[in-house]
Amino acid sequence: MRDVAVIGIGCTPFGEKWGSSFRDLFVQAGTMALEDAGVAGEEIGAMYVGNMSAGRFIEQEHVGALIADYAGLASDHIASTRVEAACASGGLSFRQAFIAVASGIEDIVVAAGVEKMTDVGTGASVDALAGAADREWEGFVGATFPGLYAMIATDYMNRYPLTREQLAEVAVKNHYNGARNPIAQFSQEITIETVLSSSLVADPLRLFDCSPITDGAAAVVLAPLERAREYTDTPVRVLASAQASDTIALHDRRDISTLDATVAAGKRAFAMAGLSPGDIDLVEVHDCFTIAEICAIEDLGFCRKGEAGRLTAEGVTALGGDLPVNTSGGLKACGHPVGATGIKQVCEVVQQLRGEAGRRQVDGARIGMTHNVGGTGATVAVHILGV
Ligand code: COA
Repeated sequence: MRDVAVIGIGCTPFGEKWGSSFRDLFVQAGTMALEDAGVAGEEIGAMYVGNMSAGRFIEQEHVGALIADYAGLASDHIASTRVEAACASGGLSFRQAFIAVASGIEDIVVAAGVEKMTDVGTGASVDALAGAADREWEGFVGATFPGLYAMIATDYMNRYPLTREQLAEVAVKNHYNGARNPIAQFSQEITIETVLSSSLVADPLRLFDCSPITDGAAAVVLAPLERAREYTDTPVRVLASAQASDTIALHDRRDISTLDATVAAGKRAFAMAGLSPGDIDLVEVHDCFTIAEICAIEDLGFCRKGEAGRLTAEGVTALGGDLPVNTSGGLKACGHPVGATGIKQVCEVVQQLRGEAGRRQVDGARIGMTHNVGGTGATVAVHILGV
């Protein structure tokens, strides 16, 4: 297996992008990533595109070919593949690109993600997202994603010492970070009171416990490490790539407050990199809801079960804390264009490791992790990157 590096990144601003189509967003992110890497289109061997539900959101399928075409690569007959794993589509597209380069089959590969969610209303969006859970046993009886994560939050709060205020601290921290990220959907800082007084969505989760509905795209370019310096002075190595799965329905899980696929993927990633949680300088976790960030920190092994709420309130996961979590603003404040999120996480970690994160820079960051979840934890991708 060859060592692999990220040599270029690009990410559109996230939000409600009425002026940009699905293909515009992708081309914008892809162009930024190629320019950042100094790679010409004809050098690309393959492309993987994370996309959850273009069929439901914009009535477009066959996304791999569409993207290759509008990237101007149709006449090169480039190998372009759509990767779908619900909200983990981006993380898995990065993993597929990593495998293609590591195996030696391809040299220069683009991993991207794109989603255009706001062309349909909230109801249609929430219903499309419900397809990431078990349609027959969950979606059919009305369980939405906020509803499913509310069940996780309720179970967690019954078993562990997490207060409603500590949960709100996750959103307060992520909005603080998002306010320092120029691509973030939400750029306003909030207080605990903002969260606690916002509309109830699914008890105990309120509006500000939820990630929003978002348009956006992100892309990265990978190359074998031995060739990376032909393109950039700042290659970022992929130290580990891991993936795990679990039951699609929440009620079939051993324990709904522990995402076993996160535990498995985290362990595999640490083993592959030969690292442990104490080696990680920052982590982008999948905070689709505030409770998801609490579970992720624990399930990845950064602390014991039941401790993440207290550590969040104490500032351990804030910028300047011992383990900054979601410096991008996370899904909560940066936004969550589902197919693009896993790639945006990689872009954020790469920016941090290059020392290019501006007002949200983690001093001396050398090793970062990404954690991308599909559904309520039926698919998880974890990556570790380092310089
Ligand atoms: N956090 C903070 N503010 C939000 C928000 C969020 N998650 N979602 C919407 N808003 C704001 C909007 O900016 C808007 O503000 P404005 O009036 O100042 O312009 C206001 O709330 C109303 O927005 P609207 O789009 O009408 O909200 P909505 O009620 O249609 O949708 C949710 C709110 C929570 C239902 C929707 O964001 C949602 O379903 N989120 C979860 C997405 C999800 O499940 N993703 C997959 C996870 S695995």
